[in-house]
Amino acid sequence: MKELEAKISQAGSLEELEKVRIELFGKRGVLALEFAKLKDIPNSEKKSFAEGLNRKKGELQRLYEKALARLKEKRIEDILKSEILDVSLYGNLDRKGALHPVMETMDRIIEYFIAMNFSVEDGPKIEDDFHNFEALNLPKNHPARDMQDTFFCRDGKLLRTHTSPVQIRTMLEQKPPIRIIAPGAVFRKDYDLTHTPMFHQVEGLVVQDKGEVSFANLKYILSDFLQYMFGDVEVRFRPSFFPFTEPSAEVDISCIFCRGDGCRVCSHTGWLEVLGCGIVDPNVFKAVGYKDVSGYAFGLGVERFAMLLHRIPDLRMLFEGDLRLLEQFR
Ligand code: PHE
Repeated sequence: MKELEAKISQAGSLEELEKVRIELFGKRGVLALEFAKLKDIPNSEKKSFAEGLNRKKGELQRLYEKALARLKEKRIEDILKSEILDVSLYGNLDRKGALHPVMETMDRIIEYFIAMNFSVEDGPKIEDDFHNFEALNLPKNHPARDMQDTFFCRDGKLLRTHTSPVQIRTMLEQKPPIRIIAPGAVFRKDYDLTHTPMFHQVEGLVVQDKGEVSFANLKYILSDFLQYMFGDVEVRFRPSFFPFTEPSAEVDISCIFCRGDGCRVCSHTGWLEVLGCGIVDPNVFKAVGYKDVSGYAFGLGVERFAMLLHRIPDLRMLFEGDLRLLEQFR
């Protein structure tokens, strides 16, 4: 008996304890054998023998329950120790996704301008006439409004046709000097090889109240930016027109496919048009209540950059979600 008590409290595992339990309490266990002795015991002693045995059985049972509880807890602790889950470990790398080529291109553009000390601004995609047109020197009935085919909402609002309204919002909220870019989606009624109804632009705006901003400043930063994006290319500025800049220019790079010799992509001109820019028109400053300031602005289409950088022949492919295209950008 004493030996069995010791076995109960010394059991090192649930399995060991189970063996001891069967040895003690089982049908042919030690206790059963003791109780079997009852029948050979003289009647006068039966009662005290049975009482003593039951007391002993009770004690052993309590001892057993205690050991069981202790070993169950130990089992849980062991499991917790041996099955540590390191949530910081990498999972199945094969299924890792990737940035969409448009977003990857956008990030590269943003990185350049952040390094040049620009900050990033955001604006609503559902705009009103004032921010998208009026304040940008595009009064009602101005013929230049036809340059952009607009999606109008029922309540008179519209889907912004460019990121230029963020220029207006920023100037209305902040004081000069201003040095921002505004990346984001824009919308136009257009659908062909080089146009989709939704695409992305990055707008840039620099405004100074001290010292004049010149076209040379604009030319320098855009040339440097385009060489950062496309490598060793030639950059040329062509006179153009935007209602919100004067003078305005369109910027070309020498064709990255034929290096200027002329090919199908550059329509045999040797040049690829990549952005629009100019010196901010005084009427724009008037619309936001700015006085004695000067500034430059530029705007570019991110998909056009992505197409050129990755030689994607049809802009619409970027939005079809075809994995055969997307998997090439893992
Ligand atoms: N907003 C013009 C466009 O969408 C681009 C642009 C921005 C041109 C700023 C000049 C200055 O085409």
